[in-house]
Amino acid sequence: MNKLSISDLDLKSKRVFIRVDFNVPLEGGAVSDDTRVKASLPTIRYAVEQGARVILASHLGRPKGAVNPKYSLRPVAACLSGLMDKPVAFAEDCIGEQAEAAVAALSDGDVLLLENLRFHAEEEKNGENFSRALAKLCDVYVNDAFGTAHRAHASTVGITRFVEKAAAGFLMQKELEYLGRALYNPDHPFVVILGGAKVSDKIGVIENLLKSADVLLIGGAMAYTFLKAQGVTVGASLVEDDKLELARQLMEKAKARKVTLELPSDHVVATDMQSGLGKRIVPVAETLPQEAGFDIGPQTIERYRAHIAEAKTIVWNGPMGMFENEHYAEGTRRIAEAVATSSAVSIIGGGDSVAAINQAGLADKVSHVSTGGGASLEFLSGIELPGVKALTDK
Ligand code: 3PG
Repeated sequence: MNKLSISDLDLKSKRVFIRVDFNVPLEGGAVSDDTRVKASLPTIRYAVEQGARVILASHLGRPKGAVNPKYSLRPVAACLSGLMDKPVAFAEDCIGEQAEAAVAALSDGDVLLLENLRFHAEEEKNGENFSRALAKLCDVYVNDAFGTAHRAHASTVGITRFVEKAAAGFLMQKELEYLGRALYNPDHPFVVILGGAKVSDKIGVIENLLKSADVLLIGGAMAYTFLKAQGVTVGASLVEDDKLELARQLMEKAKARKVTLELPSDHVVATDMQSGLGKRIVPVAETLPQEAGFDIGPQTIERYRAHIAEAKTIVWNGPMGMFENEHYAEGTRRIAEAVATSSAVSIIGGGDSVAAINQAGLADKVSHVSTGGGASLEFLSGIELPGVKALTDK
């Protein structure tokens, strides 16, 4: 990475503004999944150990520029305090008098969390005044919010124009290292597993990864658009009819580049998704008009697992079916197991596949579980993330 790292900076007694991604799920007023908070700990701990006065800022949800207690970051301060086993101060606003007073009260090694950046509309508009007000709080800026690096907002881009130095935190560096290596310098065979509902969400990723992947395994409902484009009967399965031509073009490109593009040959169908009524396993071509597919079948699972077993690099984004419903969880679970037991460098990105690997209890068996959904997809599409671009060059 050609950007400044937090480890290049002198942090002693400095007011260090760290943009984190604490956009975490809350339940009953508490953090229900602290993965993203834990992922930020190496950077926060390092800053504390260096004697910095740590100012943390994040968004939570999409409050649309208005104060909304439902999206307050206060519960995250409590969560962080528990994880760090030290007090974490909280400021009820992220700019202005309250924030400035809270920062002024910090001693070396103290930690402060500011209230939700998106309570101000100027955050998402990347407003200059708001960016300046954030920059005023600090001496040094660090971005560790990989999950938000695809957003050109005041706290990820605007602020960098008004601070002397803007550096990457350790999580940001780790994410860029893993995803960057897969994208630009993978060990082969490089197997990409893509799932989820829509081809349209993954076009950029497919196009870009066709340049370096050896095998593309497609599951989830997006497979039906490819299958229908090949003239295969898919019954009532979800298809993006306006993307059939695109699917044909992608398959042509894969062929021209000698990338093996695999599609399901059998699947789990039902006539009622929720209840699993009429559930059966059937070759895709034998799907009846009233049946829709919700998971890959055993033959497909074995074929995909054989590719995964050969891989030296794996990128997985998107589940193989509606894994959140136990009727259709098998395909995603067996793919998760194959990825977890593989000796390849394995990277999982995207909220659903991360949830699937967590549900299978296998997250610690994977080389890297990305904290970015949209950000990892954009990165894998070859787009330069604005939050990374804005950092100071080395
Ligand atoms: C995410 O959860 O993907 C990031 O925190 C970005 O959130 P956003 O999609 O609301 O910008």
